[in-house]
Amino acid sequence: MKLNGKMLPLLHILSGIIFIISIVEADIYLHNVRGSNNRLDEATRPRTNAKRMFDSQNNARGGYNVGSLFYYQGSLLPIEWTNQHSCHDANSHCEIILQYMCGDTVRDGATTKTIPEMNAQCLNNDCNSDRTYGMHEDYNYYNNCKRRQRNKGLFVADQNLNNRNRQFARNTRQNPGGTRYGYECPEERDYYPYWHPTPWKDIAVMTNDAQRCLYYRAQSENVKSRWACVLHNDSTSAIPNNKDDCEQLETNGVKGQWKEFPSHGLPPPDCRETDFSRDNHLGNGIGGHPLLYNWTVPYISHEKCAMRIRYNVSTNDYDGWNTNSSQNGNPTKINMADKYGFSTEEAAGTRGYKFKNNPEVVLFDDADFGLQLAINTAEYGRVFQDRSHTFAIRPRPDHIDSTSTIHNLNVRGKRGNIVQVYPSVEYDFVPNTLEMGTGEYVHFQWTGSNTNNRGNDGNGLAGTDRNNIVLLSSKKYPEGSGASFGPGVKRGHFGVNYPEHVTNDTFLGLGKDDVEKLALLSTGQFGGEMSQLDDAGTYFNLDPRQITQLGTYHFMSTRNNDFSNRDQKARIMVYPYPVRYEAIGYMGGSVTLPSGNAKVEVSQGAFDGLQKLRLEEWSREEGDRQMQAAHQTMNLGSDYVSNFLVVYPQNQITTDDNTFTIELKVDSGSSDIVVYRSNADNFATWTRVDASIDGNMAKFQSQRGGVFVARSSSNIGMVVGIVIACIVIVIIVIGTLVYFKLHPKKWQSVKNNAKYIQRSTQSKV
Ligand SMILES: *[C@@H]1O[C@H](CO)[C@@H](O)[C@H](O)[C@H]1NC(C)=O
Ligand SMILES: *[C@@H]1O[C@H](CO)[C@@H](O)[C@H](O)[C@H]1NC(C)=O
Repeated sequence: MKLNGKMLPLLHILSGIIFIISIVEADIYLHNVRGSNNRLDEATRPRTNAKRMFDSQNNARGGYNVGSLFYYQGSLLPIEWTNQHSCHDANSHCEIILQYMCGDTVRDGATTKTIPEMNAQCLNNDCNSDRTYGMHEDYNYYNNCKRRQRNKGLFVADQNLNNRNRQFARNTRQNPGGTRYGYECPEERDYYPYWHPTPWKDIAVMTNDAQRCLYYRAQSENVKSRWACVLHNDSTSAIPNNKDDCEQLETNGVKGQWKEFPSHGLPPPDCRETDFSRDNHLGNGIGGHPLLYNWTVPYISHEKCAMRIRYNVSTNDYDGWNTNSSQNGNPTKINMADKYGFSTEEAAGTRGYKFKNNPEVVLFDDADFGLQLAINTAEYGRVFQDRSHTFAIRPRPDHIDSTSTIHNLNVRGKRGNIVQVYPSVEYDFVPNTLEMGTGEYVHFQWTGSNTNNRGNDGNGLAGTDRNNIVLLSSKKYPEGSGASFGPGVKRGHFGVNYPEHVTNDTFLGLGKDDVEKLALLSTGQFGGEMSQLDDAGTYFNLDPRQITQLGTYHFMSTRNNDFSNRDQKARIMVYPYPVRYEAIGYMGGSVTLPSGNAKVEVSQGAFDGLQKLRLEEWSREEGDRQMQAAHQTMNLGSDYVSNFLVVYPQNQITTDDNTFTIELKVDSGSSDIVVYRSNADNFATWTRVDASIDGNMAKFQSQRGGVFVARSSSNIGMVVGIVIACIVIVIIVIGTLVYFKLHPKKWQSVKNNAKYIQRSTQSKV
C-alpha cells in the first residue's frame, strides 16, 4: 500500500474507529428470570469463567449471581431482557428464541469451573451426578455432539473447517476450533431449528420476518421428531449425521441404527415479530417499556429447570437463510459483482469487494489505498445467548384452581449504581406495572445474592441484595401534571419517598400480617437488625394472595429506594374486571378471557405487523357505570344478553379489508340477539354488528377494537315497553279529546293558529 504523509493521520483515525467497532458486541442479557451469563456467585465485576455452562459471547460483566425462584403452573411471568443490536429495524435481522428445559441433573453447581470433559475427572467417574459442577445439557449429549459429523451443507464462509479435527458438530463457523462451553453443542447453539434431538423445549420465536414462523412452528422439536445415528457399543467412532452413512457403519459387528427420537409432544412455539429496539443500546423498547415476552408457565411439575434466550443477529450482506456450503471458500463465493455493481467477480475482487475477514475496499478509481472494513465472517450471522439459573415449576396450591389467574411479582437487578451493574440493571420490580382483575392472585417472590461486588453502591450490608414492599404515602404537595393513574382509589404516590403508615386496608386489602411480612420480611426472620433488612435472607416468598380491593397501589422498597441513585418503585392496578394482553402479528393467534366468555381470534395475514391487543370483560353493571361516567345510555334493543367485551386498540388494526373474529358468550335461551359496537372512550354511537349465533356464542367479524355487547331486541321487557307506550298514547288521545270537548273555545284558537301557519308558509314558498 502506497501512502503519502498527509494520509497517515487520517488512517490513524480510521483504524481507531475500526478498533472501537470491532470490540463492540451485540449482546443479550436476561433480567427476569435472572440471567447468569455464566456467572455463579462471583464478587468480581466480570464473571470468572465464560465457558462454565454455555457460550454467551456476551460481555464478561453481564449476569446475576445465583438465586432461584419457583413459579406456579399456568401463572403469568414476564420474561425481560435487553439486546444490544436493533431488532425489527432495517440495520440488522434479528431472531430471538426462548426455550426451557427441565431435568433431574439440571443444576447451578458450586464452583465457577467448567464441568470436566471426561467422566474420569468427576466424582465417582460420573460427571452427570457430580453436583460440584453446574450442568444443563448432560455428559452423553455433549459426547455425542463432539463425535458427530458436522453438517457439511452449512455456509461457513472463509472459516477454515477443513482440518480433520474440525469435522464435528462442535466445529462451526462461529466456533471453528470447537471450544467447549459446559456441555452445550456448538452446532445446536448456532442453528435453529436444530436437526438432532435436544433437551430444549421451545417457548417462543420472535423473528424479523414473520413469514418464517410457518417453518419454525412446523420444524420445532416440540412437534416434530428427530432422527439420529445410534452406534452399537462404541465410544470412539465418528458418529454419522445421516441415514446412509449410519446404516453402513459397522461397529463391533453391528450396523448403526438410524433411530427416531419422538418430538417433545408440546404445542408449536408461539411465533411473532420482534419488538422494535435500537442499535448500540441495552435498554427498553418503544415507549420506555422493557423488551419482554409474557410467558404462561406450562402445566408441568419440576424442581430443576433452566431458561435460555438466544439472539441471532444477521445482516443484509448475504442472505443467511439461502446461503450454503457451495459458497464456502477463501474468499467466499458470495456474489459481490452483481450486488455491488461490478462487471465480474474478479473486478469486484480487485477493488476489495470480497466477503472475507477485514477486506480493504477501494472506493475511488484513483485511490492510493483501500479502507479496511471490520468484517469478521465468524460474526456475520452471529448468535448470542443468556441462560437463567435453575428455577422450579410447581403445581398450584389446592385452593387455587386452574381457571384462576396468578400473577408473578418479582424483583430484577442487582446491587450497584447504573454504571457498576451495567450491562445488568439496577433494582426494579417486575412487572413494574401489574394490571389485574379483582379476584386474581399475586405471587410476591424475589431473590438476590450476598456476594455482589462489595464496592458496588447500595444501602445496607456491602455486597448484599435485599428487598421489601411498602405502600408509598399519598401526594403531599400540589404538582403540575395530573396524569391519570388507573382504576379505583389512588393509593400512594410515585412522587414521594415516605411510606404510608399502616392502617388495616391500606395495601391491596391484605391483612396486617401480610403487609408486615412484605415490609419487614417477617416470614422466616425472627428479630435481628432489620432497619435495612441486613439480617434477613436474600429470598422472600409470600404464597399467592387473592386481591379483591380495587385501586391503584404505588409502592417501594424502603432499603433500595435511594432517590439520588436509583428508585425502586412500582404499582399494582386492581380493576373490577379481568384484563388480558396478547401480542399478535402477521401469524395471527388468539386470546381468550379467563372466564371463557369471550375470545378474539386472528387468522394469518389479517394483521401485517405486531399488535398489542388488550381485552377487558365488563359486567353489565360495570358497562352501565362506564356509560354513565361518559354521560351516555344505551337505547338500542332491550336487555343485555352478554357482558361487555372491550378490545384495544380501537382504530382499524387489520390490513386492508381483512377482519378478525370475536366470539362473545350470550345468555342461553335469549332470542333475537343483536351485537353492538361503540367506542369505549365516549360511547357516542352504537352500531349494529352482523353476528351469527353458534350455540351460546355470538360470532362476528371486526376490523377494529372497541366495546361490544349483545342485546335482545324482542323479549318480555320489549313487549311490556310497547304495551305501556300504547296505553300512554291512548290515554293522551282520549284526554285531549275530552279536554277540547270541555273547552270548545280553545279548539277554535288552535284552528286559527293552524290557518295562520298555513298562510305564512304559503307566502314564503
Ligand atoms: C441464525 O441465522 C442463520 C441465518 O443467518 C441461520 O442459519 C441459523 O440457523 C440461525 N441460528 C439460530 C440459533 O437462530
Ligand atoms: C405483557 O403483559 C403486560 C401486562 O401484564 C402488557 O402491558 C404488555 O404489553 C404485554 N407485552 C407483550 C409483548 O405481550
